[in-house]
Amino acid sequence: MKLGIVGATGLVGRIMMDILEHKNLPIKNLYLSASKNSVGKKFFFKKKKYKIISIQNLLDNKPNIVLFSAGSNISKKWAPKFEEIGSTIIDNSSAWRMDPGKKLIIPEINAFSLSKKDKIIANPNCSTIQLVMILYPLHIEYKIIRVIISTYQSVTGTGKRALDQMNKEKNGKKIINKIYPHPIYQNVLPHCDSFEKNGYTKEEIKLMKETKKIMNDQNISITATCVRVPVIGGHSESVNISFENKPNINQIYEIFSKKKGIIIQDNPKKNIYPMPLYAHGKDEVFVGRIRNDFSYKNSLNIWIVADNLRKGAATNAIQIAEFLIHKNMLYVE
Ligand SMILES: NC(=O)c1ccc[n+]([C@@H]2O[C@H](COP(=O)([O-])OP(=O)(O)OC[C@H]3O[C@@H](n4cnc5c(N)ncnc54)[C@H](OP(=O)(O)O)[C@@H]3O)[C@@H](O)[C@H]2O)c1
Repeated sequence: MKLGIVGATGLVGRIMMDILEHKNLPIKNLYLSASKNSVGKKFFFKKKKYKIISIQNLLDNKPNIVLFSAGSNISKKWAPKFEEIGSTIIDNSSAWRMDPGKKLIIPEINAFSLSKKDKIIANPNCSTIQLVMILYPLHIEYKIIRVIISTYQSVTGTGKRALDQMNKEKNGKKIINKIYPHPIYQNVLPHCDSFEKNGYTKEEIKLMKETKKIMNDQNISITATCVRVPVIGGHSESVNISFENKPNINQIYEIFSKKKGIIIQDNPKKNIYPMPLYAHGKDEVFVGRIRNDFSYKNSLNIWIVADNLRKGAATNAIQIAEFLIHKNMLYVE
């Protein structure tokens, strides 16, 4: 199999390579691509040296599968060209997520819906993936009516230049190209992605719309406030959920304990709850502070944490690739 990564030099791209290093996927040829500034740069993968090539060069090599992680403009321009030559694309950007003709996939939830015909497959937004991993099993059991989300999102969610801004602020260095409009170090910004006319940010809209699409239920009411915090380990989410049926906390522990990819950390007496510092570098979604909301019927409060670069991006994309490989869904010459 020939596998390509577009955006290999980015935060997500590097984690993709790290995950692939530790997997035994049948990769015969690996192609790493990024912007023209990076072409020629050297990277090591499984002790072999690789040079960054242009996207055109990657296209000329006719990869069977391409992991896109270089922003939505690049995906919109290039993914159809790869589709034309028979490649399957797993796209990390927001380019195709809400396209009614494209599937938005979290393998644990809806990979069964994929077929050989799906050539451009969308990976959901990082804050959506960890949320839906937890919401979906609860929806199946108790039927969700309404969800209110507040996020506390890692700086790594905005890419390597954001991390650079925070590190420079911390070290008192001059910043030339600011990613955030305010300092992020020792600050909290109620602002992730750009603002829409309706007062919400694009990140909030993505979280609300993508959740309904993946859960395949447009009747759930969802509202969100997305907040950037000076943290690098992962995104955290405080989630209030109202159900049609009365939730049972012991049963919820049982449901989560049986789900692959979910780890319960919930023992307030021993100060055990999920934290981004400890979710960092892990592939699972961590859940805790599960408690009844006494202010409203059939409602719960939950705290969810995951590493946005792993399950929120690279891990999820590679799980999709593994699914396609194991189900023989790739076009191979
Ligand atoms: N960070 C997250 O938690 C996260 C989660 C889910 C989804 N995503 C999505 O994943 C994508 C990458 O995010 P990231 O955090 O890895 O960003 P990043 O650290 O800023 O990396 C961006 C990557 O895109 C490449 N790139 C930029 N302009 C390009 C161009 N004109 N042609 C080809 N390659 C180009 C960069 O190459 P150079 O190094 O050469 O500039 C780099 O490899 C984005 O679409 C983002 O929305 C990110």
